[in-house]
Amino acid sequence: MPRPPAPAAKPPPAAPEPARVNGTSSDAGSLPSDTKIEEAPKKPKRAAKPVSVPPPPSAKASQDADMLAMAQKSEEYYELKRSVFDALIDTIDLAQLAQLDTKSAGEEIKDIVAEIITIKNVVLSTIEQDQLVEDICNDVLGYGPLEPLLARDDIADIMVNGADRCFIEVGGRIQLTPIRFRDNAQLMNICQRIVSQIGRRVDESSPICDARLLDGSRVNVIAPPLSIDGPALTIRKFKKDKLTLENLVNFDSITPEGAKVLSIIGNCRCNVLISGGTGSGKTTLLNCLTAYIEADERVVTCEDAAELQLQQPHVVRLETRPPNLEGKGEITMRDLVKNCLRMRPERIIVGEVRGSEAFDLLQAMNTGHDGSMGTLHANSPREALSRLESMITMGGYNLPSKTIREMICGSIDVIVQAARLRDGSRRITHITEVIGTEGEVIITQDLMVFDIQGEDESGRVIGRHKSTGIARPAFWDRARYFGRDQELAEALDAAAD
Ligand SMILES: Nc1ncnc2c1ncn2[C@@H]1O[C@H](COP(=O)(O)OP(=O)(O)O)[C@@H](O)[C@H]1O
Ligand SMILES: [Mg+2]
Repeated sequence: MPRPPAPAAKPPPAAPEPARVNGTSSDAGSLPSDTKIEEAPKKPKRAAKPVSVPPPPSAKASQDADMLAMAQKSEEYYELKRSVFDALIDTIDLAQLAQLDTKSAGEEIKDIVAEIITIKNVVLSTIEQDQLVEDICNDVLGYGPLEPLLARDDIADIMVNGADRCFIEVGGRIQLTPIRFRDNAQLMNICQRIVSQIGRRVDESSPICDARLLDGSRVNVIAPPLSIDGPALTIRKFKKDKLTLENLVNFDSITPEGAKVLSIIGNCRCNVLISGGTGSGKTTLLNCLTAYIEADERVVTCEDAAELQLQQPHVVRLETRPPNLEGKGEITMRDLVKNCLRMRPERIIVGEVRGSEAFDLLQAMNTGHDGSMGTLHANSPREALSRLESMITMGGYNLPSKTIREMICGSIDVIVQAARLRDGSRRITHITEVIGTEGEVIITQDLMVFDIQGEDESGRVIGRHKSTGIARPAFWDRARYFGRDQELAEALDAAAD
């Protein structure tokens, strides 16, 4: 886990020194920060009645006991950590600490924390003490309580809703974690530290910020006053090992035959739109499909935050840029797509189509850039088509809807629909062809669909992928041109059984 440089100028706890010149620094009651006011009464209450911490109200019945135990443990632990932390920042000069490299700084902190613990007469096992030192190092030098979550590879998303609530998504399910921040000021500090690494700023005057961690994870911060209960931080973790179509088959997201059809679609240069909700696996699927692009094709990718990992040698990656603090210098997706047409691409890959660039992408698809692909936010192939249409209408093109629809039909060959079902599993629910227009209506034909039959006792969705029995899809000639018709026929045939 790459650590950010230690904050030289802004120590995380923002402790005004003069307030405690004469105070006993170890007493949590003397906490000076105004953001901690509501914490103050807890201490006497806890002393009188040790089990007064209520479980998180939203916790499900099955998790209640666990969460209660964890919450109680963390309550004491955080109290201890807070007081040790305060004593620590009274003792050391954070600016000086920032001059040291991470390892020496860590050693320094470790020594001082050991001393503080001895002075305070706290009994801790070696393991507990190591844990405490690590947490404090993370607070001072890294991303604080987020560090252990960032280090885990099995987490897809981290969602922090203010200092007291942190959720993660593991294996498609959202769970509440016992991770907490000291207060919203600490959380805000960490957010600031994350975004300042790429030269952005987040505070009351610019409370919305997109950023990226050094490891490629995508970050969004929205701060008060816009987010009412403290800063909301969302991290979509970057997966080093991208999923492949084989993985998706193993996860039952698609059948082997379906995967075969998708690989042929990717290979024989169909223009593809991948549709799905947030986190449904669109980008993953797009990445999978790009694996079937031939090595000699020139590919240009346009993304808001580079996520795709194309393995081909001839790839140019482009990324949009938000406006700077003065509101200038923005480079939109549309700018990129337009520019990319002048780069002699063979295929254009657009990470997410969400605005007027839809028009330029369709035009590109229409004018010799076969095999272009993009993702779009919609819940069904039909909805994807109407979203595309409204993006073009809203982009200010004064075209009759019949023309727009014809343009869509002339450009898009296949829509692949991804979905995150209610049990957390991700499936490819449709492989649908766009075959033409009849009057003003776009005609589509499903090649494969996921048919939901119900759910079992544990809430898992039962269903199966089935072929709709179409033996000759509209892209058949294309497949034949690329010599893949035989395989396509076999895959569709096998799926029909
Ligand atoms: N079929 C799948 N099975 C399990 N996990 C998946 C699947 N597809 C994607 N994921 C995981 O889900 C998360 C979100 O996927 P992503 O492709 O970024 O979604 P989207 O682009 O639709 O927002 C990622 O962590 C990814 O690894
Ligand atoms: Mg995505």
